[in-house]
Amino acid sequence: MRKKLVAGNWKMHGNLQENDALLSALVTGISVLGNNASYAVCVPYPYFPSVQSKLQGTNIEWGAQNVSQHEKGAFTGEVSASMLNDFNCTYAIVGHSERRMLYGESNQVVAEKYVAAQKAGLVPILCVGETLEQRDSDTTEQVIDEQLKAVLTLAGVNSLANAVIAYEPVWAIGTGKTATPQQAQDIHRFIRQGIAAQSAEIAAELTILYGGSVKANNAAELFAMPDIDGGLIGGASLVADDFIAICKAVRS
Ligand code: 13P
Repeated sequence: MRKKLVAGNWKMHGNLQENDALLSALVTGISVLGNNASYAVCVPYPYFPSVQSKLQGTNIEWGAQNVSQHEKGAFTGEVSASMLNDFNCTYAIVGHSERRMLYGESNQVVAEKYVAAQKAGLVPILCVGETLEQRDSDTTEQVIDEQLKAVLTLAGVNSLANAVIAYEPVWAIGTGKTATPQQAQDIHRFIRQGIAAQSAEIAAELTILYGGSVKANNAAELFAMPDIDGGLIGGASLVADDFIAICKAVRS
């Protein structure tokens, strides 16, 4: 059975004091959920030491929101995958639409980041998704195909045995406009079928998350769809009760 996962993406939010309160509440609320699903928070880099000390030994994993494609060198401001390993990160988000759009990350660069993360033993959470303009012009599948193709060409289909894909339609991120469960399911199935054309086994085991305005009141209906294996949660991951409710929804 493929793994279910709810991962929070804190983006550039938080401070030591707020994080401490949020993590304490999450540890309490999520510890009782057991190990049927996995739970994680992807936090800003400076907070890894405190997040690690709060979460180690709990059933909540942690990860980064980005990683350099380079192993080391003169790359001012960048953080390598092996540095993330120093703080026992499990995951690294790669190719979030905010990185693609605001920092010009191409499909090729995202694929290189995916490879760098895996090389260091991290599980990349590879984000794909279309803009509203692309959806309106009926190019959603083509856009996602190209995003996936860059990774499959560089890393091969078997690499997906140690990766997670997150479908995040750009028009649903931070807008309060969630994709309907059927809209999300259609794209999740499209992604899984595309992978299955190369390897049925890998496709069957691949965890595909939905992200984009997932809230406590819509998570269950999204997670009930056959190809949706959990969520990548932005705004609602900053509110303990909401994130815990979303984590609960993934098991039922
Ligand atoms: P929101 O849940 O705030 O829409 O953000 C989704 C997202 O970008 C997660 O990576």
